Amino acid sequence: MANESKGTIGILTGGGDCPGLNAVIRAVVRRADQLGYKVVGVKNGWAGMLKELAEPLTLSSISGILPRGGTILGTSRTNPLKKEEDKKKVVENMKKMGLDYLIAVGGEDTLGVARALATEGLKVVGVPKTIDNDVEGTDQTFGFDTAVSIVTEAIDRLHSTAESHQRVMVVEVMGRHTGWIATVGGLAGGADCILIPEKSIPLDEICDIIRRRHARGRLFSIVVVAEGFQLAGADKDFVTKSAKLDQFGHVQLGGIGAIIGAEIERRTGFETRVTVLGHIQRGGSPTAYDRVLGTRYGVKAVDLIAQGKFGSMVCLHGNQITDMPIVNALKKLKYVDPELVQTAEIFYG
Ligand code: F6P
Repeated sequence: MANESKGTIGILTGGGDCPGLNAVIRAVVRRADQLGYKVVGVKNGWAGMLKELAEPLTLSSISGILPRGGTILGTSRTNPLKKEEDKKKVVENMKKMGLDYLIAVGGEDTLGVARALATEGLKVVGVPKTIDNDVEGTDQTFGFDTAVSIVTEAIDRLHSTAESHQRVMVVEVMGRHTGWIATVGGLAGGADCILIPEKSIPLDEICDIIRRRHARGRLFSIVVVAEGFQLAGADKDFVTKSAKLDQFGHVQLGGIGAIIGAEIERRTGFETRVTVLGHIQRGGSPTAYDRVLGTRYGVKAVDLIAQGKFGSMVCLHGNQITDMPIVNALKKLKYVDPELVQTAEIFYG
């Protein structure tokens, strides 16, 4: 460890939590210690920057957190860009809190704030996280692999009960406006039909797929539906739990599984049940893959600070950890690769 500090790095985690956040925090503290920086953990995402809620992170405070789910720093969906005065406050509080640099770990919303603050001259670096895997600038976000493995296990379990009762099982999964979790989880679990926001399928077609399967003697089916799926011909509104918006303007998605399930049963006459996996997909210990990805991202984030590459985001390209300007990483959402969808379709019915 260097004797003189090169400065203090603040780290915050924002948006929905996801497995692997603690791996990033641990890696940041370890790498920072090696390079001679101090680290302060900002509590509850951008809310902590507004309320000056922070605590020093030391080698002992991060010991043992690698396998833990969630984030030891807490998180929130606070958006300091909503009010000009809040944005100013974050800039002022950086100084007040003694932070020379800031690492923002989050999805498109948290990173969008980081991008805006970087243009105000703050020395910010971004780390992409989300179970949804929808950040354009990186091949994969940590948390996604864990969510997929939870979905896969759930589908495996649903298979045995579906077969015993000769039922259709509809499984609603997260992913917001993209279908990564549904597609990859569905492929891994051997789903008979996968419904994602990127590709609408009319109910008639969904029912035909299930009938086709029954016609070849397979009297049970698994249908995976992403929460952001919209039925063809519908008025293009997402199915939501409430009309409430969060501070970034997002609705709370949920409920499409029940609609699909009821329609399948009504149209085919096959007994149908619906399972909503919900926040189980985000909870608990990260997979080995997510621990390693989070660790590599955390190390790289500190290295970017040491290199003075502010306003950039760490990313995975192929198997290489690299970086790009946050502004280029968030131009649009990363949608499911059509080639992956075509592969999944081979197994429908
Ligand atoms: O972005 C991650 C995510 O889990 C989405 O898949 C989901 O739509 C949303 O967060 C749920 O948010 P909340 O935790 O606010 O219910």
